[in-house]
Amino acid sequence: MSAAAMGSTNQTGRTKIGIRMLGTGMSVPPRVMTNQDLAKLVDTSDDWISQRTGIRERRVAAPGVTVRHLAVEAARQAVQNAGIDPKQLDMLILATTRPEMVCPSTAARVVAEIGASPAGALDVNAVCSGFVYALNVGASMIQSGAMRTVAVLGADVMSAFLDWKDRGTCILFGDGAAGVILTASDDPEQGCLRQTMGSDGNQWQHLYCPRSAQDIPPNDTIFSGAFETMQMNGREIYRFAVATLQGEIDRALDAMGLKPSDLAMIISHQSNSRIMESARQRLGLPPEKLYINIDRYGNTSSASVPICLHELWQAGRLKAGDLVLFVALGGGLTWASSLWRI
Ligand code: UT7
Repeated sequence: MSAAAMGSTNQTGRTKIGIRMLGTGMSVPPRVMTNQDLAKLVDTSDDWISQRTGIRERRVAAPGVTVRHLAVEAARQAVQNAGIDPKQLDMLILATTRPEMVCPSTAARVVAEIGASPAGALDVNAVCSGFVYALNVGASMIQSGAMRTVAVLGADVMSAFLDWKDRGTCILFGDGAAGVILTASDDPEQGCLRQTMGSDGNQWQHLYCPRSAQDIPPNDTIFSGAFETMQMNGREIYRFAVATLQGEIDRALDAMGLKPSDLAMIISHQSNSRIMESARQRLGLPPEKLYINIDRYGNTSSASVPICLHELWQAGRLKAGDLVLFVALGGGLTWASSLWRI
């Protein structure tokens, strides 16, 4: 496709700035919790979990390990793999469902700990859509000319706010962090070609983490009784996820005049392998074009998309010129997509 068709100038007629992904990093806690381990805590089984979700195991952080620790490790590795000095970062955006503290932002401490001060620091919360939101924000900052080099990370320690007696939620989630370093490129055809971000706050009550009784919605049917833990209406989220994942992919393809086979890879939020498999099969794509690693990590919320990106990058499965579609959905309810030419 030509630069003109992709839109190589912006609405003011200025030449568009391209974006290059320089390198990625990832960090997961060493402790593996298998489905069999979970079956000792709640009434569930390896068969039930793996058949309904595709998950076989997840990583669980040790007590005291926070989202900051994982994010710092992932950020350091991404900077190293990118081959840059941390001082070259203009900005670090950290997507997380639950920052370490309300104040300061976790991003500010990550910037300091990796030696990137005085780079800007921003936490983004769009729950499981968080990394794709952050990627879009980072891309826009570079495309506007305001920033040259931006680190975009997703990190979550979901195990710290799960009700380990609620089999409807505790089987799903895992802990991890990952990220990518973006920098301005002279090639306007490289980088983010299209982005979407959406929300429907009228449906918030299907996935929420209440602090106190006043957060419980009227006529609630899902609250497990444990505050500060994830509450989820699995069936509603499942319906929303199937429709949103397929809808976002279709809209991205239509808007850009692309066929499913033009995509080298779909990197989706890892919500449930059945949800991802149904989208892939409907598009007629082979298994290798929609990456799935939920079997090893569970749903790591903001970290799931960048963990996939890191694994694909390290395996050499993404090459220059590839069209890659990032897509995610989650609590809020929120969703986002980001179409890239790598
Ligand atoms: O990032 C977004 C976050 N969330 C998601 O993506 C989750 C989307 N939803 C899902 O993935 C699925 O809804 C779940 C995997 C959470 C649940 O699967 P489901 O097929 O929708 O199960 P269900 O909730 O309809 O429950 C079916 C049965 C119920 O028993 P009865 O009423 O039929 O006797 C549940 O009590 O399975 C039971 N059940 C379990 N059994 C064994 C629910 N959780 C478990 C469990 N182990 N862990």
